[in-house]
Amino acid sequence: MKFFVDTAEVDQIAELNDLGMVDGVTTNPSLIMKSGRDILEVTREIAEMVDGPVSAEVVALEADAMIAEGRKLAKIASNIAVKVPLTWAGLKACNVLTNEGNMVNVTLCFSANQALLAAKAGATFISPFIGRLDDINLDGMDLISDIRQIYDNYGYDTQILAASIRTVNHAYQSAMIGADVMTAPPKVIKQMAEHVLTDKGLEAFLADWAKTGQKIL
Ligand code: E4P
Repeated sequence: MKFFVDTAEVDQIAELNDLGMVDGVTTNPSLIMKSGRDILEVTREIAEMVDGPVSAEVVALEADAMIAEGRKLAKIASNIAVKVPLTWAGLKACNVLTNEGNMVNVTLCFSANQALLAAKAGATFISPFIGRLDDINLDGMDLISDIRQIYDNYGYDTQILAASIRTVNHAYQSAMIGADVMTAPPKVIKQMAEHVLTDKGLEAFLADWAKTGQKIL
């Protein structure tokens, strides 16, 4: 499974990147706002640091304007994936930008039918939002399963990018279902290393070690 980091905070990306954990990065207008950085500058900085795809999102609503914004974002670096919303205009923009040789991430996907349309439009990535479905008492994981089945039924190459991951359980279930990629905040990726029995076991080992009076170094 590929790990993308869902943030525009360069320091946090760098920390995980140094561990070899980062296969790509996703940003969105809210994350750019939180970073306080200029979109072009921060996206360039991230794209230089990371080897894999870096998603940068358009903000226009009409297809032609989305395409123009997408072309500008794609010029930042060769590893930019242009992010477009899952609207009819976004699907048109996806098709044009894909045919021009760009990676396209179709975002804000909340149904299997939307994901089917994105695959037909040639999307490189489809981003189903798990947490936001959970927020309205629907099961975001069901959507990941449904898209996996539909894409496998017909052999679509579009990669399922499990997004809006808020918990380690979302990450675990996405991996079990076979999402190609997950994008998660750095905090959630770090939490995946935690287990109460690991902490308890380490405490017991260190207590016993102290009784031996030995040192390794
Ligand atoms: C994905 O590309 C989005 O940036 C992100 O996962 C949205 O997550 P949120 O619903 O927690 O804001």
